[in-house]
Amino acid sequence: MEIEGFLTRISAELDGEYRLFRAPGRVNLIGEHTDYNDGFVLPAAIDREVLLAARPGRARDVTLHALDCDGYSAFSLDEIGYDTAESWSNYLRGVCYVLEEADYHLRGADIVFAGDVPIGSGLSSSAALEVAAALAFLTLAEYDVPGPEIARLCQRAENAFVGNRCGIMDQFISVLGQPGHALLIDCRTLDYQPYPIPAGVRIVIGDTGVRRGLVESAYNERREQCEAGVAILEKVLPGINALRDVLPTQLEAHRDLLPEIVYRRCRHVVSENARVLQAVKAMAAGDLPELGRLLNASHDSLRGDYAVSCPELDALVEIARRQPGVYGSRMTGAGFGGCTVSLVAKEHAEAFVAAVGPAYTTATGLHPQIYVCQASAGAEEVELEHLV
Ligand code: GLA
Repeated sequence: MEIEGFLTRISAELDGEYRLFRAPGRVNLIGEHTDYNDGFVLPAAIDREVLLAARPGRARDVTLHALDCDGYSAFSLDEIGYDTAESWSNYLRGVCYVLEEADYHLRGADIVFAGDVPIGSGLSSSAALEVAAALAFLTLAEYDVPGPEIARLCQRAENAFVGNRCGIMDQFISVLGQPGHALLIDCRTLDYQPYPIPAGVRIVIGDTGVRRGLVESAYNERREQCEAGVAILEKVLPGINALRDVLPTQLEAHRDLLPEIVYRRCRHVVSENARVLQAVKAMAAGDLPELGRLLNASHDSLRGDYAVSCPELDALVEIARRQPGVYGSRMTGAGFGGCTVSLVAKEHAEAFVAAVGPAYTTATGLHPQIYVCQASAGAEEVELEHLV
């Protein structure tokens, strides 16, 4: 986001000493619905972010101002309640709550923030807000906390305070993203390894414009189906703790034990984990056709076995795949609307962006946002003196 514009917007409000933090949204290249199965993911942080200015407040008092919706909320760190009126504030309240609970002693703060990660589009605007808030509160209280730990705390804020059972991918990549790279993350050990985005390719995001309310309940249902699969399979595969531990051959061997729907959910997760590991090999070898094939296979598995796509995502993916220079296209994020990600040869990217929007409008009557994104750095404090 444009920093100077943000500073101009907040200048009337935050006079004196404030510090500025940024945290990005993300696009996941492959590895969908694998993080909460202890599996592998391959996301990149993107050049859409939350900017958050914070200055020390009075004692333990926190004031929050969300510029984009002109919302205000205030609370004391000694009594952090859930705010039903200003629901956006619960991401920040939740962060304070889990940090205090984990024995970080925070100080009060006045906070103003804005962002350009489209809300509810599957690009992790909420994780970006949590991570920006965590970094701000920890920095103001003079704590230096390792990135994976910040990610874990932010995930806990969302799980325990906001009430979404998300995995750790979004918060992790928002903290630890690297410019020009995607990160292979092992969501069990939290080990990670950067993989450069091949020079000849562009990552193009397509926002279907569809936002569906059922995402949360469907997401939790998928998690429960995965857990049900593990509960059955561990009787014949002792020692497994998650679908991460199940090989495709083992799943096939015990298919008869599983209800059909549970089997299909498991087949997605088990095959998707294998695809992520194949994808990083293809990336390292510069084999873009193979990488694209894996993205396509991921979408087909999410649509068929995992049943988290929707007609608009399928339409956008189909249109994308028909364009010249496209290696692969799939839905990204939790599904049921939101965005697609396409890998497009650099020289075709501009024509792709121009062609896909009108074709999607003809097919659906909706107006999508199509844009090339850059893999960006994870969250950080922005040094203000560099700006003047
Ligand atoms: C959402 C969740 C993530 C992950 C994806 C699906 O973005 O927040 O933890 O589970 O869905 O891959």
